[in-house]
Amino acid sequence: MKKYLLFNFKTNPSNVIQLKQLLKVFQGYSPKITEKFKVALFPPDIYLTEAKKNLKAKFILGAQDVFWFNKIQATGEITPLMLNSLGVQYIIIGHSERRRYLEETDEMINWKIKACLNNKLIPVLCVGEQEKGKNELMPDFRTKQEIFEQLNYAFRGIKINPPAGGTNLMIVYEPVWAIGKGVSQDLKASQAIIALIRFWLSRRFGEAIAKHLPILYGGSVNHQNIKEFLSSKDINGVLIGSASTNKIELSKIFKQLTTNN
Ligand code: PGA
Repeated sequence: MKKYLLFNFKTNPSNVIQLKQLLKVFQGYSPKITEKFKVALFPPDIYLTEAKKNLKAKFILGAQDVFWFNKIQATGEITPLMLNSLGVQYIIIGHSERRRYLEETDEMINWKIKACLNNKLIPVLCVGEQEKGKNELMPDFRTKQEIFEQLNYAFRGIKINPPAGGTNLMIVYEPVWAIGKGVSQDLKASQAIIALIRFWLSRRFGEAIAKHLPILYGGSVNHQNIKEFLSSKDINGVLIGSASTNKIELSKIFKQLTTNN
């Protein structure tokens, strides 16, 4: 299975000129990068049209959020239908920055996942613990509780049928303490927590789904650690935040991934 590379631009860049420069870096490494990986870009919604215009079709387009209704009037929101119409396929749901700054609740996250599934959008659900655990091989009780609670709420009332060929859902394990801090989770600890997420999925949705649903790692992924995360058979890809919009770091990441060193 190809590994996923998801690039979350967050609130960057500040203008369209910078956006175009950034997209050039992505374009420059296509097709080398798209032949080896499934690559998705998540620019702010205001840049989606420009991104679509400037990128080859092999890049998947994603959005960083979605509203849960199509028809209700809600000033400022972007609906699933609007995103569909632009060819957006993936939606980040439950990112810790939204939980923190916009007070996004577990209930809203659940509604958003349902809205995605009902509108043929693929939710990319983010879950993770607030504080680093002490034992890298054995997630502590608090970590387990936080992650299981997030999963329980997020999937409340949701049924998933084993996908035919592809998949209609993804999870990113994102330790909150590692996001934007320049310090990532250890590989072994990530693997242990991802195993825990798979265990939860197997209890909730059955073995087949638990086995096939892609689970990625996110949190301070950069050119120095990306290969390590991607080398793990338990980790189906990475979500890259800050490095996505830093042209120098981005080029270093692509060089790492396209040369055999
Ligand atoms: P980061 O962000 O790579 O800057 O830590 C990850 C994310 O978007 O969650």
